[in-house]
Amino acid sequence: MSKEINIGLVGIGTIGSGVVKILNKNKELIEKRTGISINIKKVCDVKLDNAKELGLKDEQLTKNYEELINDKDISIIIELIGGYNPAKDIILKALKAKKHVVTANKALIAKHGKEIFETVKENNVTIAFEAAVGGCIPIIKSIKESYAADNIKRIYGILNGTTNFILTKMEEGMSYSEALKKAQELGFAESNPSFDVEGKDAAQKLAILASLAFNANITEDIFTWGITKLNKNDIDYADQLGYKIKLLGIAKNENGEIELRVHPTMLPKNHELANVKNELNAVYIIGENITKAMLYGKGAGQLPTATVVLGDVIDIAKGKNDIFYFKDIKAKDINKIKSRYYLRYLAMEKPGVLAKITKVLGDNQISIAAVEQKEINKETVPIIMTTHEATEENMMKSVKEINKLDIIKEDTVVIRIENIS
Ligand code: HSE
Repeated sequence: MSKEINIGLVGIGTIGSGVVKILNKNKELIEKRTGISINIKKVCDVKLDNAKELGLKDEQLTKNYEELINDKDISIIIELIGGYNPAKDIILKALKAKKHVVTANKALIAKHGKEIFETVKENNVTIAFEAAVGGCIPIIKSIKESYAADNIKRIYGILNGTTNFILTKMEEGMSYSEALKKAQELGFAESNPSFDVEGKDAAQKLAILASLAFNANITEDIFTWGITKLNKNDIDYADQLGYKIKLLGIAKNENGEIELRVHPTMLPKNHELANVKNELNAVYIIGENITKAMLYGKGAGQLPTATVVLGDVIDIAKGKNDIFYFKDIKAKDINKIKSRYYLRYLAMEKPGVLAKITKVLGDNQISIAAVEQKEINKETVPIIMTTHEATEENMMKSVKEINKLDIIKEDTVVIRIENIS
């Protein structure tokens, strides 16, 4: 006999509509496969036109979320409105009313996870949020369940579909703005695309993954650089040097000290992550026991994301009752992090230019690995350098000094190089 589960859905936008579409099509299949019969008891949103178009009946619709929370028949609330408010209120009230919650709300989990997980514990219910990170990739389940017996050491993630799409299209010859426009048309970008291109969306997702992988309360803001300063030249130079540029979320746990950062990163061309294209996301995990694993798939989009929302509903209906365990761990000071660097200067074409730049680097203990300048008959020329390992502190100090030199005509572009083993 199937187990009947009544759900309340808050938010009938892109992903919420996807949940209804999938249930309209696959409800019986889900029931046969899992023994769970999922019924949409009530849907709440400020606009309900979508819901009517999807065949939901008037008695299933409301603009008042309290109706879902007070409904004794509803055992799981799905929150898909996103943002902080009123999503936080809805989730906390649902948990306090002893309802399980499924959400795709990365911003809320990243910022208010601690309070939400405490409320989960106090009320002996659970929360699942697979769709918050990596679209349809089951990365949270992998970290929390499949790899629960391991010590995860490092995570490298392509966590934002929009920026990966832009970087891929730039490799193919499109300009940055053309590629961003296309990503918006295809519906990958956040309503405010600066969240994507400035790396904030990836940073929220990285915070969630790192907190689960390292059992850490991530309280600091993650060091975040976006892709807005990159241009086609950087992509071409990277290619010549044997690298591809990806916006990576990087989390490392070295002897209990956590390093977290999001920035454009040069990866060896033959690395698996370097070949993740378009809006696809991928997470590369290094653990003591598993050694390495890479999960890869659509990081955005209606049906891929709605599918894992329903996967969470099915897990909870089957009795999954996740617990969340976190310690206060301080993240490493970004200034102390070591990396190799790519630098692109726009400099005057005149005697002594290289000497001035290399003096600043040398004075800051930075060793140059390679230099390239093409013969171009112009007043200003790009100069490309890669360095050996240096601290972030020394590099930022050098770049600041170099940008002030009279021979430098634009802010220097800095890209960190990561050789992922
Ligand atoms: N704007 C996000 C992205 C959507 O581009 O990946 C999924 O979180």
